[in-house]
Amino acid sequence: MSVSNLDDLKRQAALKAVDYVRDGMVVGLGTGSTAKHVILALGERIKKGLKIKGVPTSQETARLARKAKIPLLPDDAAWPIDMAIDGADQVDQRLNLIKGGGGALLKEKIVAAAAKRFIVVVDHTKRVPVLGGSFPLPVEIIPFGWANTAKKIEALGGTAVLRKRGGKIFKTEAGHYILDVNIARIDKPAELELQLNALPGVVENGLFVSRASLVIVGTPAGVEEQHAGH
Ligand code: A5P
Repeated sequence: MSVSNLDDLKRQAALKAVDYVRDGMVVGLGTGSTAKHVILALGERIKKGLKIKGVPTSQETARLARKAKIPLLPDDAAWPIDMAIDGADQVDQRLNLIKGGGGALLKEKIVAAAAKRFIVVVDHTKRVPVLGGSFPLPVEIIPFGWANTAKKIEALGGTAVLRKRGGKIFKTEAGHYILDVNIARIDKPAELELQLNALPGVVENGLFVSRASLVIVGTPAGVEEQHAGH
């Protein structure tokens, strides 16, 4: 499937998610190419009179949201988020996720945790029977002592690779590093999420376990919805 076709499936899923947004809501705005479609679609509805406020999960998302005329709440407000909408890198059958391919996992998890409902939008290629394998798990860590933190993470299983972009160490918006951890299969995501976050030096990891209320999947046969607990 070509990139443009996949992008269209992401857009279809995003449009469906935006149908759930109602006047007066505070909406958590995710990061990535699928979340971008959500922001653009919200912008279209705002033109027609929709009144919402947004909480962005990255500087890039904040920029796109301002362009779409979505009023944003300040970072330090206690946001009453009604619904967060975000993409994901992998989704398993129980709606557990890997996120963080774009490096925004920390803010994404804070926003998802603050939201009453968390809607995930993906194309069908993100669906997997078991998390791991083809997509390494991003783990955000403190730069100080990172190589030691990497060893502790590897002791839990997998191989940790320090993320680089253009030959330089990738830094998150919060100034942290990311380790991409190759794990053949993540059979116990709930356990691993807690174990990783218990290690000194680990800030957050890209496992989002039991957080999604609804996953909307763009497939070549149409848009499918999977609600948590079904
Ligand atoms: C950003 O850090 C990620 O969690 C994204 O939500 C995830 O990588 C999905 O991105 P795409 O929608 O671009 O595939």
